Amino acid sequence: MKVSGAVPGHRWRLGRSELLALIVLVLGANLLGLNFLHKPQRFTKLPLNYETTLARCRALHVKPAPPPSFCTRKESDRFQPGTRPVLLKNATIWTGGVDGLEVLKGDIFMNRGIIVATGVITKSLLDAYEHDVVDVEGAWVTPGIVDVHAHLGVGASPQLDGADDANSIKGLVLPWMRSVDAINTHDEGYALAVAGGVTTSLILPGSADAMGGQAFAIKLRPTEERSSSSLLLEPPFGLNGSDIDYSLPPRWRHMKHACGENPARVYGGTRMDTVWSVRKAYDDARKIKIAQDKYCEQALGGRWTGLGEFPAELASEALVDILRGKTKVQTHCYEAVDLDAFIRLSNEFQFPVASFHHAHESYLVPEVLKHGYGSPPASAIFSTFSRYKREAYRHSEFAAGILANNGLKVIMKSDHPAIVSRYLIHEARIAHYYGLENHLALASVISTPAEIIGLDHRVGFIKPGYDADIVVWDSHPLALAATPTQVYIDGIAQLTNPHIAKKPASQQHAPKTPNFDKERMDTIKYEGLPPLEPTRVYGTVLFRNISSFWMPGETGVHLAQTGGNVLVRAGVIDWAASDAELDEDAVIVDLHGGSISPALVSAGSTMGLQEIAMESSTADGAVFDPLSMMELPSILGDQFLMRAVDGLQFGTRDALLAYRGGVASAISAPAGSSFLQGLSVSFSLGARHKLEKGAILQDVTAVHVSLSSQFASSVSTQIAVLRRLLLEPRDSSFRQASHGSIPLVVTVHSADIISSLIQLKQEVESKRGSTMKMTIMGAAEAHLLAAELGAAGVGVIQAPPRSYPYDWEHRRMLAGPPLTAQSSAAVLASHNVTVGLGPQGINAMAAMSNWAVRSLRFDMAWVALESGGSISNEAALSMASSNIQKLLGIPPTGANTEYAVTAGGDIFSLEAKVVAMVSPRRGVVDLF
Ligand SMILES: *[C@@H]1O[C@H](CO)[C@@H](O)[C@H](O)[C@H]1NC(C)=O
Ligand SMILES: *[C@@H]1O[C@H](CO)[C@@H](O)[C@H](O)[C@H]1NC(C)=O
Ligand SMILES: *[C@@H]1O[C@H](CO)[C@@H](O)[C@H](O)[C@H]1NC(C)=O
Ligand SMILES: *[C@@H]1O[C@H](CO)[C@@H](O)[C@H](O)[C@H]1NC(C)=O
Repeated sequence: MKVSGAVPGHRWRLGRSELLALIVLVLGANLLGLNFLHKPQRFTKLPLNYETTLARCRALHVKPAPPPSFCTRKESDRFQPGTRPVLLKNATIWTGGVDGLEVLKGDIFMNRGIIVATGVITKSLLDAYEHDVVDVEGAWVTPGIVDVHAHLGVGASPQLDGADDANSIKGLVLPWMRSVDAINTHDEGYALAVAGGVTTSLILPGSADAMGGQAFAIKLRPTEERSSSSLLLEPPFGLNGSDIDYSLPPRWRHMKHACGENPARVYGGTRMDTVWSVRKAYDDARKIKIAQDKYCEQALGGRWTGLGEFPAELASEALVDILRGKTKVQTHCYEAVDLDAFIRLSNEFQFPVASFHHAHESYLVPEVLKHGYGSPPASAIFSTFSRYKREAYRHSEFAAGILANNGLKVIMKSDHPAIVSRYLIHEARIAHYYGLENHLALASVISTPAEIIGLDHRVGFIKPGYDADIVVWDSHPLALAATPTQVYIDGIAQLTNPHIAKKPASQQHAPKTPNFDKERMDTIKYEGLPPLEPTRVYGTVLFRNISSFWMPGETGVHLAQTGGNVLVRAGVIDWAASDAELDEDAVIVDLHGGSISPALVSAGSTMGLQEIAMESSTADGAVFDPLSMMELPSILGDQFLMRAVDGLQFGTRDALLAYRGGVASAISAPAGSSFLQGLSVSFSLGARHKLEKGAILQDVTAVHVSLSSQFASSVSTQIAVLRRLLLEPRDSSFRQASHGSIPLVVTVHSADIISSLIQLKQEVESKRGSTMKMTIMGAAEAHLLAAELGAAGVGVIQAPPRSYPYDWEHRRMLAGPPLTAQSSAAVLASHNVTVGLGPQGINAMAAMSNWAVRSLRFDMAWVALESGGSISNEAALSMASSNIQKLLGIPPTGANTEYAVTAGGDIFSLEAKVVAMVSPRRGVVDLF
């Protein structure tokens, strides 16, 4: 029997199988209570694809979940044939279980891409497989790190003009965009992230748009197929159009949204425009959803007449899936105003927000988050990266702890390459330092993100049946500089011949972090802007119970005293004093085994020249670039080198936070991303203004230029101009630099350009008959020329200390352990190059690094820890203090040396807190 009809656009036809299906359908409908069989009906005309449509309709309300048999699987869908089973013996396993509190001692057995057993593993199980055995000798082992926010593969490393695929700027609302369509498989970032223990990343489109598109989770190991698709971890069905099985529950999808400045600025609109565009899009999607529900009600009821096609559009299907609770919404949102608006939206359209990314103010409005539709969103945050725009100005290092205390979920994320994904564990470490509990800190980069992206049935935990993504650490992962010694993804070891530095036994446990209760309370009280000024003591201060006292000397910092007390009068250490001579109003500070050491010195940021990097009204501004196409204003005459001292600002939050981190002074050169920078200044971070006694340490320290292939002029032009400026100086500072009476500091990363500079130095010296002082700043590729730099007497400020192939000029950077035996700083030092350490900022940009200066002491300790003994703590301390001064033309400070005082541990320790700064020049002890 055939039935055909004339519904527009369709041929209607029923064959034998369809007829049977119709009977089944009718019976099915009967079971559903839709017993239209009882009524006499005319034959219904069915569309050709009605079975698919019915399956689709039945699946309409099914929520994402792993298939029922998932937890008993014996093989991963990602299993790579040929991978041998591995037994990891004698591990200290942080499993992710019991809220991050579970730690097991024992073994882990992996086979066919999954974890088969943990703990005590029976001989009978092991005997069944021919397997490899790796004895990890009690090492800490965790699940692979999960990064909920990375632009690996879409924002290219190295950055190239033709390769930035992170943002489409073709509209505010682009829910149809998909990051998977742009995930480049050759990105330099994958292997580096894996070396940091990252195994899974959610690759998000950027934040230029209110809806930037769909995100996809990937695993970071290379695959045999070498395709973007083969990196995907449980991609949603439907990706290639032919892989939808409606009998299975759907898989999670992910959508990127953005609030606030970015979409508003990119499209020349306001926050109001952004929110309206999102509401409009959701309203349209809601109409489609209602039409679908109606359609399916009729189809499932067998009422096909006039129904036509299932109502769906490719452009909006992802949004409809958000409304159906099948998509995790990941929203870039910073300020209270934006969080509030988005939560309102989530309630208006009834969809839950998985997490707010950046969320710099979520700790200020926990109640707003708790009102989110469904369940409160997690906050995916940075530990200390902040104050680069207004949205990030009220960021707090205590946010993670405060959110956790409010029962809200905390995730640390990279936004790679903002924070290099490889160092995501360090974000957790620093969040822990400022008050996030140990188990939650580990969870914040492992199990919590796994849950938030809906993959906690297979990643983020070490449990039988889970993916064999495992990191073996050389020390406790929350200990400073902890590094993987091996990383397994899908049971496959990712590091070939890893270089492992021996770490002190003290690194094998999580640091006991200092008490920041008062700071945390003030942060909330002052809505993110607590007063940071120290208490100034001009009288006598006695520091008790010191573990070590380091002093500067001829050959760098050395240990002068262990144990005992130190008395300071008017900011000057009184060596002869004893407790008996204490004044009545003396302040006594117990350091509980803390240290006194030369205070740190920072160079390589724009400290003191700006408050908020992306707000021009808060900054000195950029210097004129004589090599851009514009003419220099003639009013400048021959004195075209600007002095940073003339544009200096005191009391910026970054300065005061760095001061509280043990950094007494900074050396800053005028800002600008062009060839000519100007004359740097050395100034105190604790002073209130320029006219205060001791505020300026030296008003001119060095001549600064930058060389890069990314400027308007060619590299060869820049070298030619530099040659001319040194050999035929018009400006008196260049004359001094050519004679060596002031250092020439060149910010440059490429080894090829550095080679040209070494030659230029020789040329100038032979023509002038004097020795130049040259310092290379940045210096990602300087390690390639370590011997030549050592021989030429050229010093290096490594900024950042841990480099990354951001662009072509950084691509030959040295990765450091476990990928290479030594870090760049250690290689340079071994060739007698004087090395200083700059801040670990963003994209190796000075203007985006002020926030990072406060962490210099951790960066210096890291250099010592990962060197395996080749760099002592004292040598690292010199790299963060006296070496920097030497490289930037500041004579030894002698009796004017400033000191940093820590309590609870020494200056290298994550257990210590800086409690005071001693400044003879300013005649004061600043207490925090
Ligand atoms: C595990 O390794 C630690 C450290 O090497 C060692 O002390 C301990 O005896 C080992 N335990 C077992 C069961 O092998
Ligand atoms: C589509 O994807 C499914 C599931 O990954 C796969 O089995 C199938 O071969 C793919 N089809 C094509 C044409 O690539
Ligand atoms: C010094 O501090 C350490 C660490 O807090 C403590 O154990 C010790 O008792 C203190 N010693 C004195 C003399 O106060
Ligand atoms: C570094 O200096 C030391 C001491 O002056 C010297 O013994 C050593 O040979 C030098 N190393 C290099 C690589 O130049």
